[in-house]
Amino acid sequence: MIDTKVNICGIEFKNPVIAASGTFGFGREYAEYFPLSKLGGICSKGLTLDRKDGNKGVRIYETTGGLLNSIGLQNPGIDGFIREELPFMEKQDTVILANVGGGTIAEYIKSVEKLNHTNIDIIELNISCPNVKEGGMAFGIRHKDAYEVVSKVREVCKKPMIVKLSPNAENIVHMAEACVKAGAEGLSLVNTFSGMAIDIYNRKPVFKNTIAGLSGPGIKPIALRMVYEVSKTVDIPVIGIGGIMDYKDAIEFIMAGASAVQIGSGNFVNPTITLDIIQGIERFMEEENIRSLEEIRGIIWRDIIC
Ligand SMILES: Cc1cc2nc3c(=O)[nH]c(=O)nc-3n(C[C@H](O)[C@H](O)[C@H](O)COP(=O)(O)O)c2cc1C
Repeated sequence: MIDTKVNICGIEFKNPVIAASGTFGFGREYAEYFPLSKLGGICSKGLTLDRKDGNKGVRIYETTGGLLNSIGLQNPGIDGFIREELPFMEKQDTVILANVGGGTIAEYIKSVEKLNHTNIDIIELNISCPNVKEGGMAFGIRHKDAYEVVSKVREVCKKPMIVKLSPNAENIVHMAEACVKAGAEGLSLVNTFSGMAIDIYNRKPVFKNTIAGLSGPGIKPIALRMVYEVSKTVDIPVIGIGGIMDYKDAIEFIMAGASAVQIGSGNFVNPTITLDIIQGIERFMEEENIRSLEEIRGIIWRDIIC
């Protein structure tokens, strides 16, 4: 009776639950716990043109209600991904999103051009990486910078392209609008919030780069507010991310306007959390007589506007 399918940028997902970038690798480790074909989709670790070893020192640090990370985009590079990881992902019968980062617009373009020739389904453009050429500012902070990178990548991208927004943007709604204008076909939000921690006995920041990214349940109410504000404004699909730990959190994001959700830090607490959330959503739909998620998507503001 119930139908959990969702369609984003013309790609059909069997359910709205996607494993978030950087928290699921390329799926191999989780395949030991459950068949990955159960998932709506898997988003790859953030990929850069050349392979990266990541940051030195502490990379993950637990906080109240979440965690700080400073991985530094450790990844095998686009060619390494295509050669070593994509063949495994292709066998899993789930939607493949390739999360692409870069320090310069030229780097983004080269990476996307290589991915055009593969079987990945969707590009998730991660504009939260530091824009090295322009002096270390991330493309995802000022909407003019985002417009530039998204529109240039759009010109060469032959795959559906969603843009992943940073909650550290100066104004999340203006940022979303700029990405739509630049040609984004979907948006995912949020990435991690800037945060830090200090080791008081060493009298030094915990992380070598001082600032790290905060994720987990502590950010959920803010992420939910951002997804609500953006979904109400744009008319392209939005994927909600931020502190989702159970099916109730996922349903909240859908009621705020998200077409799908991504699960990040929760994977570290419970490796089968994505599966639990999928089953929880199905149960909720049955109990509440919801046949399709479209019936409740954005329901909190759709009713207000009507
Ligand atoms: C350890 C770790 C690594 C991450 N790596 C990436 C990445 O490579 N690219 C990206 O776009 N987001 C990355 N993220 C952000 C997550 O995909 C997600 O947007 C964020 O953690 C918020 O969701 P959550 O609260 O469910 O974890 C990473 C998060 C964590 C915790």
